[in-house]
Amino acid sequence: MIAQLRQQVLDGWEKGADFFDERWGDQGDEFHHGVFAPSAERMLGLERGASVIEIACGNGGFARRLGRQGMSVVATDLSPALIAHAERRTETISDQPVDIRYEVVDATVERQIVNCGGPFDAAVCIMGVMSMPMLRPMFGGAWRVLRPRGVFVVVTLHPAYATSGYKFVKPEEDQLPGLKVERYLSRYVTHGVTNTAQTEPQIYFHRPLSELLADAFASGLVLDGMEELPAPEQAEDEAKLIWNMLPDIPMAIALRFRRV
Ligand SMILES: C[S@@+](CC[C@H](N)C(=O)[O-])C[C@H]1O[C@@H](n2cnc3c(N)ncnc32)[C@H](O)[C@@H]1O
Repeated sequence: MIAQLRQQVLDGWEKGADFFDERWGDQGDEFHHGVFAPSAERMLGLERGASVIEIACGNGGFARRLGRQGMSVVATDLSPALIAHAERRTETISDQPVDIRYEVVDATVERQIVNCGGPFDAAVCIMGVMSMPMLRPMFGGAWRVLRPRGVFVVVTLHPAYATSGYKFVKPEEDQLPGLKVERYLSRYVTHGVTNTAQTEPQIYFHRPLSELLADAFASGLVLDGMEELPAPEQAEDEAKLIWNMLPDIPMAIALRFRRV
């Protein structure tokens, strides 16, 4: 069952790799570079020269952002096709040297993370955990490659709102738009898109926040920071996603774990 799910996840990202690379471009889409990446940076709080392992790096937008700030980065992803795009985009950086090494790594296999080396000052995973059928190997692997006091920042769609079974509620007169959440506590497999132009949604795994945290705590990590992230507010006729019309409901959450 797990092997089948892993294959489905891999097939989805491999098949869509060219499309995602084109849509994300060099620095990710506007939600990535405008909301998720700045939050990850604040939570990581890194100084020049820090060593970082990235899990589920996609086509490398955040790795390049860190590399340009002088970090030493090992950026990893399940999809060989996305890693190839990440390498190609990084090779064309000519205005400054960047220290980024890319590796194909399945984060649901702990030893693949451990094989990346370390110890690292920090680990980061942006919008990756929804694609993983289990999280214990990722948290266990992060614990093992982090130096003591090192941090692991996870940015993900907000489990309470954005991966739960929600429906957008159009406002009646004088009311704000909202969400109706119909299920949250049970785990389930669902589908989602990373881009509104995407015709074939990829498989997503919903888990309540308590389960996500339990997997991190069981691996020896503690939670020491959190941000809840709304999308930038836009009127209905300009909104790219429903989240732009819901400025008081966070579409994403950033969690900072620490190896103590
Ligand atoms: C929504 S994309 C996010 C990519 C990048 N972090 C970003 O924010 O642009 C999800 C990424 O997770 C990767 N992924 C899915 N399952 C994974 C796994 N088991 N191990 C490592 N990466 C995985 C996919 O290949 C894809 O690149």
